[in-house]
Amino acid sequence: MSKRKKLRWIVENFFKDPESVMRELSGYWLSNEKEQRILDGFSENTISNFYLPFGVAPNFILNGKTYAVPMVIEESSVVAAASAAAKYWMSRGGFHAEVISTKKVGQVHFYWHGNSEKLKTVFSEIKTELIKATAGITKNMENRGGGIADIVLKDMTSHDKGYFQIMATFETCDSMGANFINSVLETFSHTLIKFIKEDDRFEEGMEKEVDVIMSILSNYTPECLVRTWVECPVEDLGTFSGDMSAAQFADKFCRAIKIAHIDPYRATTHNKGIFNGIDAVVLATANDFRAIEACGHTYAAKDGQYRSLTHCKIEDGLFKFWMDLPLAIGTVGGLTKLHPIARRSLELLGNPNAEELMGIIAATGLAQNFAAIKSLVTTGIQKGHMKMHLLNILNHQDASEAEIKNAVEYFDDKIVSVSGVRDYLNENRDQTDKDSDASSLRLKAE
Ligand code: MEV
Repeated sequence: MSKRKKLRWIVENFFKDPESVMRELSGYWLSNEKEQRILDGFSENTISNFYLPFGVAPNFILNGKTYAVPMVIEESSVVAAASAAAKYWMSRGGFHAEVISTKKVGQVHFYWHGNSEKLKTVFSEIKTELIKATAGITKNMENRGGGIADIVLKDMTSHDKGYFQIMATFETCDSMGANFINSVLETFSHTLIKFIKEDDRFEEGMEKEVDVIMSILSNYTPECLVRTWVECPVEDLGTFSGDMSAAQFADKFCRAIKIAHIDPYRATTHNKGIFNGIDAVVLATANDFRAIEACGHTYAAKDGQYRSLTHCKIEDGLFKFWMDLPLAIGTVGGLTKLHPIARRSLELLGNPNAEELMGIIAATGLAQNFAAIKSLVTTGIQKGHMKMHLLNILNHQDASEAEIKNAVEYFDDKIVSVSGVRDYLNENRDQTDKDSDASSLRLKAE
């Protein structure tokens, strides 16, 4: 079916008012047919486009360079929080980031029921064959400075009888490298099967049989790691609402981080806040946010318990807040240059390479966490959230600019609810009407 036919079929079979839904959903198609075709090509059975806000967090100083960070997110307050944190650290040295390592990982999982010592002895020869067999695939990547970094045999038989892995590490330069890694791994698996079948040292029967279960990259990349941090003397942190001193704030802040190290319930929300920032930049640059999330959460549980991804310490009067995070992203390949807005996001960031983008993404996550914890240990987050909520309700009620201004003042110290705002607007609108009626009567009397 053509796209129009698919949409027609959907609206006629699943909606009460097919004509208006047809009009509405096709109304979100791009008028530029070429651009629309590119978008449709990213997925299957597309019937329309789903829009999300594309915002920016300006004033981000990272390693001395100023960025306006593109963020795609549907949750209110996230961009505001990132922007506020960026502005706060702007006059305190900004954010810092350092890429520690950039290795990606892939595995061939297989079962083999021969003598494991024999396999281990022969593996260096198998490794040579694996490298030779993939030379055609790795050539380009090697020319760019990447390729296969290492290949090891892992004996997993203590977990399950006959279970082994070929565990390989890769350098994929500025690409995320998923297709490259998976192609190499599939070639590894065919080469392994062939080697064992043809080598006389493996006896006929069970030893000749390699049962490859799967060949796939791992999204857990603890060696594709970036560190990001902010630091300043405690007294430079400033003062906070309720006359909280810098030292009191630093202490409360650090204890909030400690709680997220102790308690997985808190750690989950804490890290969710970090990913509010990370996912938004990952999405804006058309990287794979599911991969980034999966990896980050595994890393948060690397010592056996799910914990905070961020750390904080106060030492010799210095407040230091940091995060180590594995981030396997790319600035070439995938959708990064195909998605029209992702392309602009990268341009907005000055077309960074993958390492620079790792730093930007991680710093945005750290900023988000800083903003969340700063609010939580001082005013609480509802004040800020409710202001945004109030604006959303007011817009929904078609409030005028003057009404919005008055309502924001009125609700400053009150609890915001949909019915509360509606009642306030009704009363206020009535009042405005009454006022204008009264003044026109006065005018007539005069
Ligand atoms: C809301 O999306 C994120 C927070 O809950 C994060 C946190 O509690 O640290 C504010």
